[in-house]
Amino acid sequence: MQTKFPSESLTVLTDLVLPSETNPLNNLFGGELLARMDRAASIAARRHSRRITVTASVNHVAFNRAIPLGSVVTVEAKVSRSFKSSMEIYIDVWIEDRESGSKTKANEAIYTFVAVDETGRPVEVPQIVPQTDEEKARFDAALRRKQLSLVLAGKMKPDEATELKALFTS
Ligand SMILES: CC(C)(COP(=O)(O)OP(=O)(O)OC[C@H]1O[C@@H](n2cnc3c(N)ncnc32)[C@H](O)[C@@H]1OP(=O)(O)O)[C@@H](O)C(=O)NCCC(=O)NCCS
Repeated sequence: MQTKFPSESLTVLTDLVLPSETNPLNNLFGGELLARMDRAASIAARRHSRRITVTASVNHVAFNRAIPLGSVVTVEAKVSRSFKSSMEIYIDVWIEDRESGSKTKANEAIYTFVAVDETGRPVEVPQIVPQTDEEKARFDAALRRKQLSLVLAGKMKPDEATELKALFTS
């Protein structure tokens, strides 16, 4: 099967934070950000696989910075690694300073999507060839994140998570 670059799946969604999307502190609701990230990740997974894709797991979310009402929020999603039918999507969230236009990293997340056929059965996806140093680092760590996710979901025995175990024994 053909290979693809992470940049081919790059998806950038930019939108404002409106009053109906905030909590009592006037910051963006976590659930609203999760939905925006899921949409961007879904498009990235579709661009990579050119198939129907479904969210299999939210592997990691870090709400490091509150995002105030009125902010311009950019969600960037890219496939960091693909396996057989699953794809790890790395998401970076940026907020833009109104006056300078400079971007600050607010949050990040890692989702797993699976490509499926019309009956919902997993299908094979193209492999990824990382290009930049960041893409290579994310690619290299993706297998242990997949194993951790599978172990936590009860779909893999801890003993079988060789890449993950190597983190603690090396
Ligand atoms: C995701 C889904 C297709 C997986 O189906 P399944 O029967 O478990 O299929 P498999 O066991 O063959 O797994 C398919 C792939 O998903 C991966 N996967 C499954 N659960 C995973 C998890 N929790 N974390 C990471 N990867 C996971 C498997 O490792 C496998 O990857 P690979 O083919 O690249 O090796 C199925 O569970 C599903 O349709 N879930 C609902 C999805 C959905 O509706 N999402 C929206 C949220 S409401």
